[in-house]
Amino acid sequence: MEPANAPARPCSGLRIGDVAPDFEARSTIGPVRLSAFRGRWLVLFSHPADFTPVCTTEFVALAREAEAFAARDCALMALSVDSLFSHFAWLRMIRDRFGIEVRFPIVEDPTLVIGRAYGMVSAQDADSATVRTTFFIDPRGVIRAMTCYPANLGRSVPEMLRILDGLQAIDASGALAPANWQAGEPLLAPPTQDLDQVFAAEEATSWFLTPVEAAPQ
Ligand code: BEZ
Repeated sequence: MEPANAPARPCSGLRIGDVAPDFEARSTIGPVRLSAFRGRWLVLFSHPADFTPVCTTEFVALAREAEAFAARDCALMALSVDSLFSHFAWLRMIRDRFGIEVRFPIVEDPTLVIGRAYGMVSAQDADSATVRTTFFIDPRGVIRAMTCYPANLGRSVPEMLRILDGLQAIDASGALAPANWQAGEPLLAPPTQDLDQVFAAEEATSWFLTPVEAAPQ
């Protein structure tokens, strides 16, 4: 494992709009294939290592919010280089210590083949630990958002849910989600591309900055 103050490696070479590379691997719920999750949202995320403090808090927090992800028709899938049996032992420890069963799949990636395909580890890196990369994959299998945090900073589960809410709301409405948007709040209308409407607008900003009600989710 790299020291906590090691420089963060680059985030994925994948881009928003790319199709998420398919893979099949062993996981804590049996063999999984990424493309089998088509038709639902999927949050695919890497963690540096099992049995580490920040990762443990993330898994406890995610398992406690499992129903919130399910309510958004979103599956969770975790991935690290650790073996399947390390994952099992860690989940047993989490269950015994924190009273929560992690039921979403944790994939083993001992050869780094998946981590490299997703840019979770850099090609020249000797250290096998993956950084905290998170991919938000839509029901067509397209990467819609991604985040990359260093090993020593845990992710925010409310922010992961907010990203999902935002992506689902903009898909449903065609509108835009402003800064700090939360589910249920107004969105923004896409700006006009017509100069006559720009000059005809009642206020100086209303042609490009107009709140609209979000469609109920
Ligand atoms: C952690 O999860 O606590 C951790 C993992 C790798 C490096 C530093 C911290």
